Amino acid sequence: PKEQPLKGKKVVVTAGPTRERIDPVRYLTNFSSGKMGYAMATAARDLGADVTLVSGPVDLPEPTGMTVVQVESAEDMLQAVLSVYEQSDLAIKTAAVADYRPKNAMNQKMKKQEGDSVIELERTTDILKTLGEKKTHQLLIGFAAETNDVLHYAQGKLQKKNADYIVANDVSQTDRGFGTDENTVTLVGHGDYVKSFPSLQKEALAKQLLLHILEREGQMK
Ligand code: PMT
Repeated sequence: PKEQPLKGKKVVVTAGPTRERIDPVRYLTNFSSGKMGYAMATAARDLGADVTLVSGPVDLPEPTGMTVVQVESAEDMLQAVLSVYEQSDLAIKTAAVADYRPKNAMNQKMKKQEGDSVIELERTTDILKTLGEKKTHQLLIGFAAETNDVLHYAQGKLQKKNADYIVANDVSQTDRGFGTDENTVTLVGHGDYVKSFPSLQKEALAKQLLLHILEREGQMK
């Protein structure tokens, strides 16, 4: 039926931040609350999809009617996503994945020392890029949080990561994007497709985003 356009489709959604351990009691992370990713997963479920939500550590209740996989680090998230990606029809990468992790995570609590300290960081694997490289039949949707030249960077990410769509967030204002209940985004696709959305609650926005993508994909077939 029309209200369930994702019926029979398998969707994997990532949400929230990742935590990269420095030692057993400290970690690096970011301000993602998971709200946008949880809204995407819930919207996909309501449109009929069979959803796997891969979630970093957040304070939100687990949504029902889907498989929820809890992860901590970027590496955990990569492995959890890869284990379902091949069977997925749609992959939505809303998570704010750490780009760097401590190069030498300590097994014991770091001791205070005189003077300054330096933590050496190494790059994590870019999950979206990895999925882009392994893409066969999947529709791949990334997010991009930017503080400047939002469209320019979103269009760059679309190409570089072999994604089908990028949902670009302008996070230059503190009341938009990370942690908030509302979000203002622009959906960017190939062929110079650009669709701006008004400021909406994340739940409503998630549904609108999926419906627009499905409509456009339907037209292109
Ligand atoms: O969780 P909320 O508080 O609701 O906030 C929502 C949000 C602002 C986190 C969300 O809407 C958002 O914009 N998510 C992506 C944020 C981000 O990290 O963007 P990025 O430009 O660093 O990464 C671009 C894309 O690559 C994203 O799809 C990201 O999931 C992916 N990525 C990034 C790094 C990495 N190592 N692996 C990745 O897959």
